[in-house]
Amino acid sequence: CIVRHYKFNVVLKNATRLCSSKPIVTVNGRFPGPTIYAREDDTVLVKVVNHVKYNVSIHWHGIRQLRTGWADGPAYITQCPIQPGQQYMYNFTITGQRGTLWWHAHILWLRVTVHGALVILPKRGVPYPFPTPDKEEVVVLGEWWKSDVEAVINEALKSGLAPNVSDAHTINGYPGPVSTCSSEGGYTLAVNPGKTYLLRIINAALNEELFFKIAGHQFTVVEVDAVYTKPLKTNTILIAPGQTTNVLVTTGRGSGKYMVVASPFMDAPLLVDNVTATATLHYAGTFRKAPTILTSTPPKNATSLATNYVKSLRSLNSNTYPAKVPLKIDHSLFFTVGLGTNPCATCVNGTRVVADINNVTFVMPKVSLLQAHFFNISGVFTDDFPANPLIPYNYTGTQPTNFRTRRGTKLYRLAYNSTVQVVLQDTGMIAAENHPLHLHGFNFFEVGRGLGNFNPKKDPKNFNLIDPVERNTAGVPSGGWTAIRFRADNPGVWFMHCHLEVHTTWGLKMAFVVDNGKGPNESILPPPSDLPKC
Ligand code: C2O
Repeated sequence: CIVRHYKFNVVLKNATRLCSSKPIVTVNGRFPGPTIYAREDDTVLVKVVNHVKYNVSIHWHGIRQLRTGWADGPAYITQCPIQPGQQYMYNFTITGQRGTLWWHAHILWLRVTVHGALVILPKRGVPYPFPTPDKEEVVVLGEWWKSDVEAVINEALKSGLAPNVSDAHTINGYPGPVSTCSSEGGYTLAVNPGKTYLLRIINAALNEELFFKIAGHQFTVVEVDAVYTKPLKTNTILIAPGQTTNVLVTTGRGSGKYMVVASPFMDAPLLVDNVTATATLHYAGTFRKAPTILTSTPPKNATSLATNYVKSLRSLNSNTYPAKVPLKIDHSLFFTVGLGTNPCATCVNGTRVVADINNVTFVMPKVSLLQAHFFNISGVFTDDFPANPLIPYNYTGTQPTNFRTRRGTKLYRLAYNSTVQVVLQDTGMIAAENHPLHLHGFNFFEVGRGLGNFNPKKDPKNFNLIDPVERNTAGVPSGGWTAIRFRADNPGVWFMHCHLEVHTTWGLKMAFVVDNGKGPNESILPPPSDLPKC
């Protein structure tokens, strides 16, 4: 294994989309940002230099960060942000992971344009557990906003109302070739006939789960969130913000141009975004002006398509890549996830929309939680996060009229190496919605999923404890629940939050503190000397 060096200059760059230009925050002037390549067991060093007026931090989404929480990146959780003019060297080793992950800014809403792929190849000489592709491509799905995104969310926080949605989705940075501004191309995936391509698909969008498909071509899903799956054939994949999916695509014998689409999935009534991004799969030798073979997009409320796809995913669970599902559970947690309100005298309706887990709206601290934990700084957080809702109610039925949440910086303490089950129950507070929940520092197994209220007597009988899909971000279905299991084998402070940016901002987040009982200094490495100060 080797050490890979990268330099990320966070800089403004002018970009033109949807017929207008604006400066965007980028890494090295690129949108999407540069791809990091490494192999399993390599050490990655990324020097991030902040040249913009915002505070910055970068998260390596899905990297386990075993004992190196200082490199995880979420601002005020594992580090203070990198201030304008400052720099920080992220230093982590990729232990026992290979596949597609990604990196993104983890402060404000900067990740809208500050993100890129993180491709981890298997160790040298170790093949993929599927036919070797002829070529690999990174496909990053995202959003484009005509307005200044930070201004949009600040305005929403002031008014207490929901922010706007993006103006377009993007595929590798472009909404699509069908644009009135002729100078703006869309992304083109150039292919040869009779070949197999590995597409490494990443959903970097702020607030939308997306369907993704290619006219006339079938996918074989072979990996999600950098964990191999049993091969799954499908025409359409569903991918939530935070998730990654590797698919094989085999091209046909002929030629032609085929439409590639990313379109939103949302069965929640509040959301109105409906904009499809397109790209082109272009066979070698096809005229540039040839007509594109089109495909329909799934309706945005195609719930059964979404559900069937997610239910069909299985981890590979081979001898080489076993699924080590915890069977005995030490911590059994039940978390409601949803929306609520808080009083707000200056807001438009006298209240503001907030979000919560177990009725706690998470308040960001002023110094990082990991520092507070490591250096025993009191008064930053409490470790009394509730293991269950304080007052149970009919989560998906008639809602209590008082949507008010409690506020606090509460963590849940896990014993090192203990096993954890979390049932994540969506609520209908204000409105039922999908919540892609992301856990830092761990992969988890998604052992069960269902609609309505979780039934603790019946539902566990149907859990898949053999080959459930293993991932770092799982969609809690709107008006339903998801059960996850993991082993707390990584000491530190680990954030868990909805990967819909608006929900994170509203407080749908919490953190676990994992301690080996011998004191924090014996469990995580000391902080690097250049760790940013608050
Ligand atoms: Cu991809 Cu906490 O984030």
